[in-house]
Amino acid sequence: MSFTRIIRDLSVRALAVLDLVGTRFRQSNHVWRRGKGKGISTIVLGVFGLIVLGLIIGVAHKSNEDLDFLDYDGGAPGVDYAYEDLGGDASYEPPADEEVGRKPDDPQVSEATKKAFKEVLDAIQANSPEGQLQVSKGSECNLMDIGVTDTSKFDRLTKESLEKCLQIPEEMTKTLHEAHKKFRAAIGEKLMPMFRKLDTPAFSGDGILIVGGGKYSVFALPAIKAIRENSGFKLKSSIPIEIIIPPSDKADRGFCDNVLPKVDPLGLTKCVFLDEMFDADTLSHIEGYQIKALALLVSRFERVLMLDADNYVVNSINDYFTSSALNDKGLILWPDYWRRLHHPKLYGIVDLGVSPDHISRYSVDDVSPDYMYKKSVTDTPFHDFRDALPDGGTESGQLLVDKKKHLDSIIMSLYYNYNGKSYYYPILGQGFAGEGDKDTFALASRVMHGPGSFYQVKTPVDTLGHWADAKDEIRLLEEEYENVEKKFRGCAMLQHDYIEDSKFSSLAREVLGNTIRNNEEKFCDEWAAKNKGKFSAEEKARREECKKSKEVQDALHEKMRASYKLDDYLAFFSFTGVSFVHSHLPKYDPWEWYENGDMMFDGKKAKKNHKNDPDYVPAHSGNYRMYDSKFNQISSYDLELANWSAFKSYLCDLEGGYKNFGYLSNKIDSTKSPKQSNKDMCKYIEERVEYLKSTSWNDYDV
Ligand SMILES: *[C@@H]1O[C@H](CO)[C@@H](O)[C@H](O)[C@H]1NC(C)=O
Repeated sequence: MSFTRIIRDLSVRALAVLDLVGTRFRQSNHVWRRGKGKGISTIVLGVFGLIVLGLIIGVAHKSNEDLDFLDYDGGAPGVDYAYEDLGGDASYEPPADEEVGRKPDDPQVSEATKKAFKEVLDAIQANSPEGQLQVSKGSECNLMDIGVTDTSKFDRLTKESLEKCLQIPEEMTKTLHEAHKKFRAAIGEKLMPMFRKLDTPAFSGDGILIVGGGKYSVFALPAIKAIRENSGFKLKSSIPIEIIIPPSDKADRGFCDNVLPKVDPLGLTKCVFLDEMFDADTLSHIEGYQIKALALLVSRFERVLMLDADNYVVNSINDYFTSSALNDKGLILWPDYWRRLHHPKLYGIVDLGVSPDHISRYSVDDVSPDYMYKKSVTDTPFHDFRDALPDGGTESGQLLVDKKKHLDSIIMSLYYNYNGKSYYYPILGQGFAGEGDKDTFALASRVMHGPGSFYQVKTPVDTLGHWADAKDEIRLLEEEYENVEKKFRGCAMLQHDYIEDSKFSSLAREVLGNTIRNNEEKFCDEWAAKNKGKFSAEEKARREECKKSKEVQDALHEKMRASYKLDDYLAFFSFTGVSFVHSHLPKYDPWEWYENGDMMFDGKKAKKNHKNDPDYVPAHSGNYRMYDSKFNQISSYDLELANWSAFKSYLCDLEGGYKNFGYLSNKIDSTKSPKQSNKDMCKYIEERVEYLKSTSWNDYDV
């Protein structure tokens, strides 16, 4: 795809603006030529042009045009990954066509499939090492959570530095390596053939998977509603949803039988009870934090979008299951705020070599040529080496996988999670930011299918929330910002549309490549002009001479290095649309919000935070919104209102509504007067709905 093609394919309306982009590009060259670019990034002006292009795209967004003029270019990964020969065990192909598979609307699981699932768990158990890592940090450990753009701290990410924290005894490395090798062999020799041989394929069709159970079943209500409202004209009325209920949450029957049919009258949402899938003995070895990997395995869908129960779809995901990016890679992951802190010994344990011969990226930038940022091998962050897992870390609140390609990766990730607490979580996270399943999927894919076998979204995760008074965490109105010490209260993570992201990623490759090439040529021409007679007059020959001259190259690289900025690369992703709002903080349920009086100017929470302050008068009264006005730019859906009105409908309007939820029954029925408690909680919910309605931009029919 060339830049001229983009221009050709753009609508006439956009052309006028694009002309401006062209002007910016010429200007950037101009600045470059006159050498006045001191302190100005060499490519930033080109990027400025792109921002204009982004604006056009932003406009196109709003008017529902699409971005097809920017083709996803799956065939050109940033690095020349040498694909490993993976032999015959790499992919799972159902024996016959999809029609004979488990029908997406038929939750019945054949005995043979159940047996296959059990074999997987048995094999995992049989190959799991005993014992656990002693999590102690070396005294010289200077690791911390380091953001993907926090360049000033990147020097703490070298191999040497990553090895100074968690101590893994040599003996243990060997044991882990042996066990891992055996299990990997079992996947290829036994488990995958078993799935291939099933008469009725274990998986078919597309669907969304949510892990429910306990308070997560309560969260799932608005999540299902958001899918049915926002997922796009095709999916919203057709995509089936599975709610996986963990073994201890039998009490959620009521939710499945009585509430779900009302939330999703299409009848496309079904519960899957894990205790109907596995025998009690097998389940006794399963722990909560392993449920996500297990849910992925047992889900009846072949292409699965897994969402945390408090992760809401806010814009169309119509093409999520059919995109070329998914087709190409089979696994889509989303980024965390942080860079990877995996212990370098991990790579030995799982049999992956990372050689320091190739430095192929700078944090998330895998496009700019390495001379722009390269350092000595000992000063280079370990995960910038080619064969390490590329940064940033992964956040697993959403994940899209095609089991036809990655069933083996899912099984492998289940192994890592099974041995997570004891070994793999500390090895992957070294005790920092949210240890858990998040990085096990990328690792499994890398181990089973080599580098470049998954696509991770480049657009950084964003945050939504509000400014609060640092003293009491109560939201401030805009006019109050200046007078008080304020603190941002982050309430949700925003994750972006992977299809648009992959297009911007191709665009970045294309435009940065062109801009840098242009600058190299200009530099050569100027150099030749200053050194008359030493270079050929013929353009092509001259540029070849420049490429061969060490002196020219050194000078060029020095100049380019001085202007390198990671943000120039990230600027390409400023306009990616948001797909998901992961409402992770406060991770409370309507009951706790009511109990704490959260999100109120004069609720219990405000009073509690001022209990030693007799003269305290709340600045305002009533409810406030959790999200700031940025939300309206992201989606037209009033998520907060939809969220609380779902609680109102299914917990309060429905007679005895809370009793359908094991979690709420436990809480409410153990109070002195359950009836009164329920009434009070519903009062809080109803008042909140009223308030949100009165401040909504949506014509919401509650
Ligand atoms: C929806 O309500 C739940 C339960 O109170 C809360 O934890 C979550 O943050 C809310 N999400 C939104 C988007 O309002």
